[in-house]
Amino acid sequence: MRGERLDRLLARLGLGSRKEVGRLVRSGRVRVEGQVVLDPGFHVPERAGLEVEGRPLATRRHLHLLLHKPAGYVTSRKEGPSVYALLQGFPTRDLSPVGRLDKDAEGLLLFTTHGELLHRLTHPRHKVEKRYLVRLLHPATEADARAFQEGIFLDGERTLPARLRLGEDPIWVELTLLEGRFHQVKRMFRARGNRVLYLKRLGLGPLTLGDLPPGGVRPLTPEEEGALYLAVGLAP
Ligand code: URA
Repeated sequence: MRGERLDRLLARLGLGSRKEVGRLVRSGRVRVEGQVVLDPGFHVPERAGLEVEGRPLATRRHLHLLLHKPAGYVTSRKEGPSVYALLQGFPTRDLSPVGRLDKDAEGLLLFTTHGELLHRLTHPRHKVEKRYLVRLLHPATEADARAFQEGIFLDGERTLPARLRLGEDPIWVELTLLEGRFHQVKRMFRARGNRVLYLKRLGLGPLTLGDLPPGGVRPLTPEEEGALYLAVGLAP
């Protein structure tokens, strides 16, 4: 086994883009098993100890990226413009999106290399909250809120209880779902005779967009990662 390229490994661990970590390596600030390595293409043996600027690096096995998806991008590798184009500099090969956002939708889109985490975040059994900001064609009503709380039938199956928050202007609402069925938000409002004109995902479980600008991408912080694992009952 040749091991993983040093620049790929460092980028996967969230130290920066391939270009940035390449610079870091060439500047002599990275050691493998105590030896300075200047070649970003160096193949790191499995379980080798890494140090960056004198500090040992925990070789986390997984990368989780938070993207602020702008409208106009497709959550697909095959169709364009693809959200993967926004992840430039990160090793995208093993990254999968946690659920999808429609082309015209924007907001929080998480990518992960962790298959079990992906499964748990998307499976309704774990009831991870997905929070959306929605602008509607017609004002939402308390009757909509009650109907969503009770669940409505999509494809013959009742949706899990969803929380609809009406603000001062009931054209703008916040909807919290515990599952992520195909076009779920749009179809729920359509079932109530309404239409979604704008859709933004604000949060996923403990994650929020914070001040990440549209098109921005960053690895999760260790705190966010811990909270996410906790939310779905995974050991960190
Ligand atoms: N529900 C939708 O209808 N579209 C999305 O992109 C996400 C949730």
